[in-house]
Amino acid sequence: MREVNEAFIQSIEHRPKSTTIDAQGIPLIDLSALNSNHSDGIAALAAEIGGACENWGFFQVINHGVPPSFREKIEQASRLFFLQPGEEKRKIARDEANPMGFYDSEHTKNVRDWKQVFDFTVEIPTVIPASHEPEDVELREVFNQWPQYPPNFREACEEYAQEMEKLAYKLLELISLSLGLPSDRLNNFFESQTSFTRLNYYPRCPTPDLALGVGRHKDSGALTILAQDDVGGLEVKRKTDGEWVRVKPTPSAFIVNVGDVIQVWSNDKYESVEHRVKVNSERERFSIPFFFNPTHSVTVAPIKELTCERNPARYKPYNWGKFHTTRNLSNFKKLNVENIQI
Ligand code: SIN
Ligand code: FE2
Repeated sequence: MREVNEAFIQSIEHRPKSTTIDAQGIPLIDLSALNSNHSDGIAALAAEIGGACENWGFFQVINHGVPPSFREKIEQASRLFFLQPGEEKRKIARDEANPMGFYDSEHTKNVRDWKQVFDFTVEIPTVIPASHEPEDVELREVFNQWPQYPPNFREACEEYAQEMEKLAYKLLELISLSLGLPSDRLNNFFESQTSFTRLNYYPRCPTPDLALGVGRHKDSGALTILAQDDVGGLEVKRKTDGEWVRVKPTPSAFIVNVGDVIQVWSNDKYESVEHRVKVNSERERFSIPFFFNPTHSVTVAPIKELTCERNPARYKPYNWGKFHTTRNLSNFKKLNVENIQI
C-alpha cells in the first residue's frame, strides 16, 4: 500500500473512527411551503429552521426549488476538470495575488487536507485588501480563473452559483424570521457579497484512517449550502455529546450550516458547529459548498434587537472583509470567533 506523506497525518485524537454513527437527528426540512407564500406555512418553516440551527447548526433541505439539471451540470463539469492531469489544473493555480482558481495544498489546523479545490466568486470583480495586514484598507480586484476544459465549465459554474444565491437569500430570510426579526433584516449585509463557490475533489486515499479530506473546522461566513455526492464522508460534531456523526447523503438534498457570522449576529443562539470530512480508499468523492458571505465592509456584531441587559453582546464588532481575507490568505491563521470573544 502506498504511504501517505506525513503532512497529511492527523494526530491520534483527531483521526477518524472506522465506526462512525449516522446522524439520525439532523433535520430534513421540506421547503415547499416557500412556494405557497402562505404566512402560517412560512412561520412553521421558520420555526423548524430555528430549531435545527439551535440544536444542530446543520440541516438538510429538500424541495428547495433548485432545478436538478444545474447540479448535474456542475457535478459533471467538476469531475471532468479534476480528473485531468495535475499540470493542466495547475495552469489556473491560485496564488497570493489571486485566491480564486485551483489549489491542492490547503491546510486546516496545520495538517494538510486530502483534497483538491477550485474556487470562484459570485460577484465579478470582487475586492479584497491588497495585503494580509489587517490594518491595510487598500482594496484590489480579484478575478476568476477559468479552465479551458471542459468547455462548459464556466457556464455550469456561473449558473449554479446564481441558483445558490437565490436559495441562500430564502434561507437567510427564514433564519431572520426564526430569530424574531423582520424577514429582510439581514439582507442589507449582502449588498455586494464576498460569497464564493468551491468545487472539492477528494481523491481515493490509501490510509483513510490517518488523514482527513478536511480537518475539523467551523465555517467563518454566514451560511454554507453544500451539495455532497452519494459517497458520503461529511461528519458533524453533535452538540449534545461532542460525538462525530456522519451526515448520510440524501439524493437531491442540500446540507445547510450556520457559520461564525450568524453565531455572532444571533449572539450565540445559533452556533457555528465543527465539522470535518472523512476520505475513502475505494471511492473518490466530490462536493460543492457555496459560502454565503456578507459585503466586505460590513461590521459584524450581535444584532441590537437580540441583545438586552440580561443578554448583553458577547462579541466585539469586527470587520468582515479584513477577517475573511486574513483567514483565507494566511491559510486560516489563528483568527477565529474564539479570539474575538470578549
Ligand atoms: C467543508 O466543510 O469544507 C467541506 C464539506 C464537504 O466536502 O462535505
Ligand atoms: Fe466547512
